[in-house]
Amino acid sequence: LNQVYTLSNGVQLPKIGLGTWQTKKGEETYQSVMMALKNGYRHIDTAEGYQNEASVGQAVRDSGIPREEIFVTSKLESHIKTYEGALEAFEKTMKELKFDYLDLFLIHAPWPWSEMYKDCNEGNVLAYKAMENLYKEGRIRAIGVSNFSPNDIENIIQNCDVVPHVNQIGYFIGIDQSETIDYCRKHNIFIEAYSPLGIGYLLSNKDIQKVAEKYNVSPAQICIRWCLQKETAPLPKSIHENRIIQNTEVDFEISDEDMEFLDTIKGDPRRWD
Ligand code: A2P
Repeated sequence: LNQVYTLSNGVQLPKIGLGTWQTKKGEETYQSVMMALKNGYRHIDTAEGYQNEASVGQAVRDSGIPREEIFVTSKLESHIKTYEGALEAFEKTMKELKFDYLDLFLIHAPWPWSEMYKDCNEGNVLAYKAMENLYKEGRIRAIGVSNFSPNDIENIIQNCDVVPHVNQIGYFIGIDQSETIDYCRKHNIFIEAYSPLGIGYLLSNKDIQKVAEKYNVSPAQICIRWCLQKETAPLPKSIHENRIIQNTEVDFEISDEDMEFLDTIKGDPRRWD
């Protein structure tokens, strides 16, 4: 569980992180993070947009585990596309978390959720420059982006100093992210995989269930192991302790042949619903 990946700037992060998107603020988030930390997780993913940063921070502090042993990510709300706005939002995030520093801060998306695909190239550069300065001041250990396409990242690389350390994308069996992943690998940008279980929808996929039976594990474990064998960091979300534990018990190897079979599964299950 505590094997790590190393980012391009040398910062290390545990391979599996707890996702908290759709985990309700307050008790639900507090308990989920607390259970994860108790069971060995040392990597928690949150965002200003999830509205649960305060509960994440509280659990991290109450856990009694030294702050520097836990890797915490948060994200800049996707409608904030100015330099000053990004600085202010970062301070707000730090006030919620009550931390002295943050491990990873990402631009949540290249466009506001309310105007998806709008061209925000200029605003992304301004927001990213603010994050660069916070990074240079040592307030954040690594910076990056989320939901960015190769073009969106190219805009950052052309106009900023620090190549993003991370791009966090929706990545799970069935989705084709090869273009983004190839581009990121070329630039040494690490891929984190959110919704590794396809928000849970993949767990009823018959082909995945078949592979799971073969290895005597659950479909969730196949999904998570698949992300690891693709050299990405999966961020499975759960509020149930048995699942939180199960999602880390992935110390088995899917054969090349079965990986190839899983790669033939096509489609984004989030859209099949
Ligand atoms: P819950 O939080 O009630 O446990 P993703 O990480 O792809 O977004 O998927 C999260 C969804 O999958 C949530 O609905 C979560 O439910 C469910 N889930 C997480 N881990 C497991 C598991 N090991 N077995 C079954 N369902 C799981």
